[in-house]
Amino acid sequence: MQYNDFRGIGRASRLGYGLMRLPVRDGQVDEERAVRLIRRGIDGGITYLDTAYPYHGGQSEVTAGKALKGGYREKVTVTDKLPCWAVKESGDMDALLDEQLRRLDLPYIDMYLLHALNRDRYAKMKELGFKDFFRRALNDGRIRHVGFSFHDGADAFREILDDYDGWEMCQIQYNYLDDDSQATEQGLLYAGKKNVPVVIMEPLRGGNLARVPREIAEKMEGYQVKRSPAEWAFRFAADHEEVKVVLSGMSSEEQLEDNLRIFDGIPPRSLTEEDLRFVREIKKAFLARQPILCTGCRYCQPCPRGVKIPEIFEAVNRAVMFDRTEELARRLENFRAEEAGPSRCVKCGKCESVCPQSLGIIELLKKTESGGFQVSV
Ligand SMILES: NC(=O)c1ccc[n+]([C@@H]2O[C@H](COP(=O)([O-])OP(=O)(O)OC[C@H]3O[C@@H](n4cnc5c(N)ncnc54)[C@H](OP(=O)(O)O)[C@@H]3O)[C@@H](O)[C@H]2O)c1
Repeated sequence: MQYNDFRGIGRASRLGYGLMRLPVRDGQVDEERAVRLIRRGIDGGITYLDTAYPYHGGQSEVTAGKALKGGYREKVTVTDKLPCWAVKESGDMDALLDEQLRRLDLPYIDMYLLHALNRDRYAKMKELGFKDFFRRALNDGRIRHVGFSFHDGADAFREILDDYDGWEMCQIQYNYLDDDSQATEQGLLYAGKKNVPVVIMEPLRGGNLARVPREIAEKMEGYQVKRSPAEWAFRFAADHEEVKVVLSGMSSEEQLEDNLRIFDGIPPRSLTEEDLRFVREIKKAFLARQPILCTGCRYCQPCPRGVKIPEIFEAVNRAVMFDRTEELARRLENFRAEEAGPSRCVKCGKCESVCPQSLGIIELLKKTESGGFQVSV
């Protein structure tokens, strides 16, 4: 395992264990197996665990607490997150943190984050006095360090970073498909300039960059250096020195062993210029698979018939890009259940008249409804 200096907490393993995707049996966390996995991860050199209030309906925190008995607690940094969406008044912050400590069965949490911040949520948390709450909880020892996780655009990311000088880390979504969305690579570098350590989430885009379509796999096989799809994605996510930890949710023994092996050999800046060019080619090949060039600008919304056009197109793109036909069928069922599916279109054309990409939305919806977007395997 490779390690990084992490301001405030000292040393951190470059691979962190994300506890959002623990093994499940009969709809519940398979606790015995999950505890074994987490402990094997720690024995294999992982020193950073990431959980949150909603993961597995609260079972992630409980399972983490159980895994940390028997001498494991002392070996790791425990990160947990305040579910900001559940905070209605300032006292809720204390109550939620106390509940989390009970679930974890721990007296304190090492790193406590405001969970999934965007601009609006940050404004709300500010109004409710999160800074005072942090001060209280740091002073009475319930938490040791503070940070935030983030899902919004680059401008909001900078604003949040600049607004509070207490941040001791930030957690962002970053992978080779998302390097120019969300916080972006520029945001990552900006956090580094401000001396705020960066932790990466979704380095494999939730697994999609590990199970790549054949066309992409063949490109990788043809490259001069042989690496698995997961290894390419991890190397990319870990490449900047500003990145201190790359989190991965590992739901099986094979994934855990694979990732421990990969992170044995990834120092920062492990990709050559040629490698980076190759990753950009892979990204381009992925993007070229998108059948609908919708940018998600939402000019087409609201549709008078309630059709969720951007969401439907995103689902189609995702399914075709990653060869996930079943997932598309399931998502279309959900849109239909919400009375927002493609068949509700009455061809009024309001959307087409405002679409900046000049998409033939009516035809695209018809094609989606008739199952016309076939996945090319
Ligand atoms: N703060 C936030 O808002 C937020 C949001 C998202 C995530 N997170 C945190 O960040 C962590 C990391 O994100 P993530 O879980 O989405 O990470 P990820 O690494 O992008 O995706 C994890 C998934 O990738 C697959 N996988 C992992 N290693 C693999 C390997 N070696 N070979 C093949 N497949 C592999 C598994 O999918 P399968 O199980 O399907 O096989 C696994 O569940 C989360 O666990 C969570 O702790 C935080």
